[in-house]
Amino acid sequence: MELNIALLAGDGIGPEVIEQAVKVSNAIAKKFNHSINWNHAITGADAIDKVGDPYPDETHEVCMNSDAILFGAIGHPKFDNNPSAKVRPEQGLLKMRKKLGLFANVRPTFTFPSLIDKSPLKKERILGTDLVFLRELTGGIYFGERGRRNNGNTAFDTCTYSRHEIVRLAKKGFELAMKRSKKLCCVDKANVLESSRLWRETVQSMEKDYPEVKVSYEFVDAVAMRLVQWPNSYDVLITENLFGDILTDEASVISGSMGLMPSASIGTETSLFEPIHGSYPQAAGKNIANPLATILSAAMMFEDAFQLKKEANLIREVVNKSLEQSIVTEDLSDGNKSYSTSEVGDWLVSKI
Ligand code: IPM
Ligand code: MN
Repeated sequence: MELNIALLAGDGIGPEVIEQAVKVSNAIAKKFNHSINWNHAITGADAIDKVGDPYPDETHEVCMNSDAILFGAIGHPKFDNNPSAKVRPEQGLLKMRKKLGLFANVRPTFTFPSLIDKSPLKKERILGTDLVFLRELTGGIYFGERGRRNNGNTAFDTCTYSRHEIVRLAKKGFELAMKRSKKLCCVDKANVLESSRLWRETVQSMEKDYPEVKVSYEFVDAVAMRLVQWPNSYDVLITENLFGDILTDEASVISGSMGLMPSASIGTETSLFEPIHGSYPQAAGKNIANPLATILSAAMMFEDAFQLKKEANLIREVVNKSLEQSIVTEDLSDGNKSYSTSEVGDWLVSKI
């Protein structure tokens, strides 16, 4: 099979971790007789420096003309510390999500038996956790009307959702639940917010189309608490953009390391695959960042974008092996030897 993949390395540790994912993907392609065309494009602070736009039209073209997008990370401290910066790397990410219609962000949280002690949570609470958040990604307060009033002394951001936006996200949630344990949790704040009431009403009206799925409705504050108390009680969770942003960071703690969790963003155009961690500027260029989240994102890409399940599973298998044998970067090492970003990549390639 010929795979056309847009490669957006981005900022900070993005290029280093992406390089490992490319090596691993190429090794997989070689083993299973596929050929990959990597279509490089710029994004984030890197693109601001080069052309003044964090998601230039040329990059969008490359994404639209590819079958999948593998993405590193964006963000640079020089923008974080400058609240008056006119263009920010994060705007590129939001523009990309909107222009590519990436309305569903799939963020799995699972544990690795060999790393169970890395989580700050009690082992018996988190063992066997295997849940997936479907976060709405192109609506809500991220994209609503915002501004200042009262000579700049009052600011507002609005959360708006249409039934259509909720239906298409919830549909993905029901479909995923059907493939898993047929349990779906709708996370909202329907006791306060009108947009949440529309979410709840809409999801309730869809229940009849999926009679086998058991749906629960829970308030976001309660979920925030139960998620770390009883993560095992959840399977598929659907929620709006901001709640999903917050809860998925919280959920990453369960697995013990942000450096491990992959994600996919799917929608109307090309799907995008990226690690959930950020650009980790302090580690950039040092060859110490953990490449596994990006490599596991490549596995998701093989499975979801190309239906290449065996290929995806082989990646997951060698990643598991590396964890079991402690061929890991310093964030996961238990004080003994740790390996560099590229050494971990090379080891995985040699196992493939
Ligand atoms: C994420 C990030 C982004 C978001 C930022 C960088 C805009 O935190 O992908 O979760 O808030 O969506
Ligand atoms: Mn986030």
